Amino acid sequence: MNKTINESIHLVGETLALLPADHPRDAVVIFCPPFISLEKVSEALRNNKKLFSAAQNCHWEKSGAFTGEISTEMIKAAGACYVILGHSERRRYFNETNEQLSQKVNAVLSEGLIPIFCCGESLEIRESNTHFELLEDQITKGLFHLSEDEFRHVIIAYEPVWAIGTGKVASQEQAQEMHEFIRHLIRKQYGEEVAGNTSILYGGSMKPSNARGLLSQPDVDGGLIGGSSLEAADFVEIIKAI
Ligand code: PGA
Repeated sequence: MNKTINESIHLVGETLALLPADHPRDAVVIFCPPFISLEKVSEALRNNKKLFSAAQNCHWEKSGAFTGEISTEMIKAAGACYVILGHSERRRYFNETNEQLSQKVNAVLSEGLIPIFCCGESLEIRESNTHFELLEDQITKGLFHLSEDEFRHVIIAYEPVWAIGTGKVASQEQAQEMHEFIRHLIRKQYGEEVAGNTSILYGGSMKPSNARGLLSQPDVDGGLIGGSSLEAADFVEIIKAI
């Protein structure tokens, strides 16, 4: 919940101005503004093949009496291609459950959009050493009802809750360990080829000073950037680290 419409457009403009024309090889950059800015931000990105926009949430129904909610059809019409689902703040403050998230995943895919499915453990779970079980539960219940073809469109973001907006970052080793575990779960469910092709992003206090180290890990394919994306120069430094 950052930036008005004008501020969002300004930030995208600043970011684009700093982005080198030959910006990273295969890297896709996705801007995820609040719903109200989505259409304008999508318009600002329209002529660029590697820059896209995403919503931060959606409802699972196509339309109807769900006051205050936004459907995937509306998101697509606003020009977005991706939808973040199950961010820890949605799970925590809005009580989103794995069951609801599995329905949201279906709604996103059936609209031809790409879900960026977030998972990750709280500090309490990590300290009780049950973080692997928790992650397996979130991923199994949220995603593994999908067919192999459907799953191929999914992006996963591992976000340890204790590292989001706290300045505490998971070490490279901690991030790699969890990403490797997620890929292992995908491999068991969908096989080697699908696992190898799934993008697994790390999120949680990624910034210019730690991005290169995190992104150099073999199973860390990208980042989900919060605070550092609100400063164009920092965001672009992270993009350059991919
Ligand atoms: P952060 O946020 O980069 O500020 O920790 C990440 C997120 O909100 O997913």
